[in-house]
Amino acid sequence: MNGAPRDAAEPADPRHGGGVSRKSVLKAAALALPVPLLAAGAASGAGTEATAATSPPPLTPYCDDGDDPTPEQMEGPYFKPNSPRRTSLIEPGVVGTRLTVIGHVFGLDCRPVPGVLLDFWQADANGAYDNTGYRLRGHQFTDASGGYRLSTIVPGLYPGRTRHIHVKAQAPNRPVLTTQLYFPGEPRNNTDPIFDAALLMTVRTVAGGREGSFDFVLNVTSAPTPTPTGTAPGGTWAPGTAYPAGARVTYGGLGYRCLQAHTAQVGWEPPRAPALWAAD
Ligand SMILES: [Fe+2]
Repeated sequence: MNGAPRDAAEPADPRHGGGVSRKSVLKAAALALPVPLLAAGAASGAGTEATAATSPPPLTPYCDDGDDPTPEQMEGPYFKPNSPRRTSLIEPGVVGTRLTVIGHVFGLDCRPVPGVLLDFWQADANGAYDNTGYRLRGHQFTDASGGYRLSTIVPGLYPGRTRHIHVKAQAPNRPVLTTQLYFPGEPRNNTDPIFDAALLMTVRTVAGGREGSFDFVLNVTSAPTPTPTGTAPGGTWAPGTAYPAGARVTYGGLGYRCLQAHTAQVGWEPPRAPALWAAD
């Protein structure tokens, strides 16, 4: 359906009280160092914000060893698998204030993590989710420097929630982190029980819209390394194969159905990549 969503189905997550964490402090520091975040955009080549080209690219992303992992939040009722792979959610008919979200994905040891699946979904400018198609839904993978860049619009408000963007993040061979990103200065941040200040983006006004930044920290101790062999144990799954959504493979004696079109790589074996594969 395409109706007005409400978050009666998104109860408060009691695990996070919304206090300002070290992550927030780091993001505040990152505001003064926006340059590292531009590297991701340069790598993806997807952005249209002209302001991003005014500073030289950084040598290394900004991170602080020992940073806290990005908190998990509820998925909510509007996630859909098999979103298109794209870094821009701007398409004909999408209206609203342009927003570019940029950042990196780090492990706990501050190493950037490439190849992380980031799957974004959000409400449109009127606060409605597209539950029949894939408008304002899309996934991408972090680049070699762990960077990402998303071109979208500022999501609208809907009853019961403050302004937010949903995202799933999954490093190769790691569990899925489901969370949400928030905007600073929103009055409803004070009343939305799901809101967590640790998930605030740094947002600034730029030519043509707004620019948000957020660095994810996944609960991994180092950048994943490929396993010695990608050979499926007795199955048909094979690295390097481009699987369309709906494709079926076997792996380890079990059957799996592809949820999102992708090219398989070592570390994305079906039982280890629930965002990509579902057991048949
Ligand atoms: Fe939502």
